[in-house]
Amino acid sequence: MEITLGDLDPGAELAELRAALLERPRRIPSRYFYDRRGSELFEAITELPEYYPTRAETALLEAHADEIARATGAEELVELGSGAASKTRILLDALARAGNLRTYVPLDVSEAMVRRSAEELAAAYPELTVHGLVADFHHHLDHIPPGEPRLVIFLGSTIGNLRPAEAVAFLRGIAAPMAPGDFFLLGVDLVKETAVIEAAYNDAAGLTAEFNRNILRVVNRLAGGDFEPDRFAHRAFFDPANRWIEMRLVARGAQTVRLPKLDLTLELADGEELLTEISCKYERRQVERMLARGGFSLDRWFTDDERLFGLALARHDASRPEGGSWHQGTI
Ligand code: SAH
Ligand code: AVI
Repeated sequence: MEITLGDLDPGAELAELRAALLERPRRIPSRYFYDRRGSELFEAITELPEYYPTRAETALLEAHADEIARATGAEELVELGSGAASKTRILLDALARAGNLRTYVPLDVSEAMVRRSAEELAAAYPELTVHGLVADFHHHLDHIPPGEPRLVIFLGSTIGNLRPAEAVAFLRGIAAPMAPGDFFLLGVDLVKETAVIEAAYNDAAGLTAEFNRNILRVVNRLAGGDFEPDRFAHRAFFDPANRWIEMRLVARGAQTVRLPKLDLTLELADGEELLTEISCKYERRQVERMLARGGFSLDRWFTDDERLFGLALARHDASRPEGGSWHQGTI
């Protein structure tokens, strides 16, 4: 087992965070949810009765993993935003049954999660080479070790946390270096009754509210800041025009927040909102269009009877010009 640490540039991160906090509405990039506590809170969210996406996606993987494994014949499984990688075992088992699997590459910004999942999976699959990458999936794909054919997976509808234009740019980043025999498996949450979607982001136990407020603790650590998380209320609602959930933190009372490492002092008005996350919900044709704009063609589409969640198996569109390679030097 090997872990490679990506060159996550702290200076650039602080500059991006500063710029986001100065936007209107003010914004905090969603990847800051996932320190150790945030990752644990997300794991707990996936088990809540209201949070249907993880259960729905797990059931789809259980039903179709063998077909996916046969169709792709993958030797290397690369997982972007792998987190706890709990659903990955379903695919690893199917790929092992199909007989070609050699390498698993979990890639995540959360070092704690990459270490934990890489250790657990290396122990559970002694034949497998596990190469963890602590990296940002927007920038560091070039350190993925060689291995063809590859199956790249991006589960949990994490693509929905990117704005549509960002999602297309992200897909292009993955597609460009892909070889003709490689596949991409994308999990997407589907548009459904608003009450069902909103309940998933407003759970009765209050875990999503805690997850949301935890982002302020992460920012405090990064920026030497003095946000008081308890002085913010959680707000999550479905925006039908954009077909996404918006998660916000609402200031309870006017407050001054000092962020010395950003050279920034925020004067927040009572009721002022910070945007912490969008979570897009899709329909099949929209996923197909997004994949096409990103350089992929849809090969197979799997969904459940209730149309809760979708899994899109796609191939690099060979009619597009060749991109670079993922394996070029150091991160
Ligand atoms: N794939 C898992 C986890 C989803 S949570 C599942 O389906 O349940 C989203 C994960 O993406 C978190 O582990 C988070 O740390 C990671 N992530 C968020 N932004 C990222 C980025 N820019 N680069 C790499 N990983 C990122
Ligand atoms: C990781 N991501 C797809 C989750 C989502 O549903 O957008 C994060 C999350 N936010 C609130 N609950 C879960």
